[in-house]
Order: sequence, then structure tokens, then C-alpha cells
Amino acid sequence: MTKGIILSGGYGTRLRPLSCSIPKSLMPVVNKPVIERQIMLLKAAGVNEIVLAVSVMSDVVKHYFGDGKRLNIKIHYTNEKYPMGTAGAIRLAQEYLKDDNFFMLNGDVIMDFKFSDMLKHHQKCGGIGTIASRVVEDPSRYGVLIVDDQTHQLHKFLEKEEYHPPAGKIKPMPINAGVYILEPDIFSYIQPKKKVSIEREVFPHVADDGKLFNYSISGIWKDIGKPLDLLEANILLMTDIIDSLEGEVKNLIDDSVNIDPTTNIHSPCTIGKNVIIRKNCTIGPNVIIGDDVYIDENTKINDSMIYNESYISKNVSINNAIISDNCLIEKNVQLTGTDENLIILASFVKVNKDVKLLSKNNQSISYCHHEVVKESVN
Ligand code: GDD
Ligand code: MG
Repeated sequence: MTKGIILSGGYGTRLRPLSCSIPKSLMPVVNKPVIERQIMLLKAAGVNEIVLAVSVMSDVVKHYFGDGKRLNIKIHYTNEKYPMGTAGAIRLAQEYLKDDNFFMLNGDVIMDFKFSDMLKHHQKCGGIGTIASRVVEDPSRYGVLIVDDQTHQLHKFLEKEEYHPPAGKIKPMPINAGVYILEPDIFSYIQPKKKVSIEREVFPHVADDGKLFNYSISGIWKDIGKPLDLLEANILLMTDIIDSLEGEVKNLIDDSVNIDPTTNIHSPCTIGKNVIIRKNCTIGPNVIIGDDVYIDENTKINDSMIYNESYISKNVSINNAIISDNCLIEKNVQLTGTDENLIILASFVKVNKDVKLLSKNNQSISYCHHEVVKESVN
């Protein structure tokens, strides 16, 4: 039976300050950690045993998933004292993965395609590895695949900075979507007890040996590398889930919520468990609210995420913002980001009454966990 390994151990530097208190692999995507969404896709393909390759904040990840019983899947953990690189991390799990092919996932991507179809394609191609790919307009942030369209074979795998577009002109290319199926033979390409990158030090050699293949995916896909990507990924997945539901469902609202009838919800919105929203609020479009959030009267929120257990007082306006867990926003606060430059509050931030944060001049405004915001920025 095919198993799986999810890389959940990077520093998540570009997601700071959100990732200072929440590991990147537990970042919420439509109110579930990004790797829980991946585990659901693996389970749908028949995988019932996985390894989480944890390192940074490993205790937090282990505490959340435990042995996997809650999700009805068996979960093992590897122990990286410090990050061993994307190949070094799977080498440590060789004992679990040595008997059959396995899925390997970057733990920071969302997608929605059938992993079982990819497995069939992998078996047909017969290589050591198959890489899911996706064409993007600007491939510079990703690993680029140079593919033979007839045979699906990879001529080259070029990690970011190694790919130089012809004549310096950026053009759409298939990129590495961070989902692989690998045969145990992959381990012979990875030196033990060393920090090794699968993208830079392993895939190029497997491609040279003619044993690496491409699988083009369709449907949604996104890496949650930066805060703006995280917000966009949430909106993308929420819209995808709503579109896939039967009937006239326009929002994902838990049955336990208590929303005053004078409040307007503009779809699409997600509202988690035990959320209370008082009168005359306007919520949405593109809002994702976690569990146990309180929103007082006359508050307006759009194009934003609010994580669990935050408290938003009355007459507050929030747009283009990410508000992490346990934040406290006092009355008359205005948090106004732009499409490109968000307002970002990490866990346990308090914003004092009447404060106005307006992001301008191509800069996001961020506060680290436990900060108290006393002065306006505009
Ligand atoms: N356990 C462990 N140990 N995990 C790690 C380590 C490590 O040393 N280093 C990175 N990871 C995890 C990260 O947490 C993330 O889930 C995944 O590996 C990929 O690392 P990123 O740091 O997010 O890489 P990237 O986004 O710049 O590039 C990668 O992903 C792109 C797709 O999103 C590459 O695989 C690219 O080729 C690819 O296009
Ligand atoms: Mg990434």
C-alpha cells in the first residue's frame, strides 16, 4: 500500500510574523491546517499511513496530530534536530518508506486533484519519480520543469535561480507543484546524515538518468509562502469548496454560530464554530473566520482572515487583513490594507481603541505576537 510523507519542517521565514507562533504546516486554510487538507487528499487516494517530517516547532505539530487516530490515519514522525533539507528529511524516514512507492508533499501547498490518478500515471511512466506540475505565468519563484510533452519525461529540473528564461523574457512554464510520487530507489541518490536538497541535489541527477516524469495537474493550486499567498489560498479553496457543493450553498457557515438577523453576509464567507456576530455588521465578501470569534455591532469586514478566539469590538472596519488567533481589537479601530499590502496581526496582538492602520507606499503593516498597538499609522 502506498504511503506518504509530508515536509513540515521549514522555518517559514517569509510568513513571519504569523509563523513565529504557528508553524507553517499548521497555517489555517479554510479553518483547517494546510497539512490536514493534504492528509484528506492522501486518504482519498487510499493512503492510510504517513510520516510527518517535522523540525521547526515540531512539538506543536505533534501535539495537534498525535498518532493520527482523530483523522483515522497512522502518523509517524521523524526527528530532525535542525532542518536537514528536503531530501535529508525523507532520508530519515527511509525505514517507513523502503517497501513501496510513496507520495511526498511540500507541506505548504493547497490543491484539489485526485492523487489516485497521479499514481496511475506514475505506474504507467515507470520512473523513479513523478512530479506534479502546473503552468504559471511567472515561474521565477519555483522549480521549473523542462519536459518532453510526448513521453512526459523530464529533460531537466531547474530549481529557482537555476532557470534563466530565453532572452531574459519571463514566459509561462510548468513548475514543480511540490507533490511527488517516488520509488524507494530514490534513497540511493541521497547521501545519509547530510543536509540535502531534493530539488537541487537529487532531481537533476534522476532527470539526467531519464527516470523522472511529469504529471500536469488542473484545478486549484497555490503555495502559501507569504501572507498574501495565504489569504489568496484561503479565498481560492473556499470558492472551490463552495462551487463543488450541490444546491445553492454560497457560504460555509457552521451550525453553531449566533449571527444577528440584521447582519449582512456577502458571499463567499466561511464562519467557524461558536462564532457570535452582533447586529448591523457587514461581513464579506472573501472573509474566513475561525472558531470562537466574537464580533460586536456595526463592524465591517471584507477580504480578510480572522483566526480562532479573536475578539473584535464594535464600529471596527477591517479589510485586506490577516488577524491571527487570540487578538483583541478595541472599538472604532480601522485596519485598512490593500490588495498587495496587507495589515497583519500575529497571535495575541491587542489594538487599542480608535487606532487607524492604513497600509500605503507599497508596504504591509505587521505586528509580532503579543504586541500592543497604541498609535495610528497612515
Ligand atoms: N522537514 C523539513 N526539513 N522540511 C523542510 C525543510 C527541512 O530542512 N526545508 C523545507 N522544508 C519544507 C517546508 O516547510 C515546505 O513545506 C517545503 O519543505 C518546501 O520548502 P519551501 O521553503 O516552502 O520551498 P519553496 O516554496 O521556496 O520551493 C519549493 O516549493 C515550490 C512549490 O511551492 C520547491 O520545491 C520548488 O521547486 C517548488 O516549485
Ligand atoms: Mg513553499
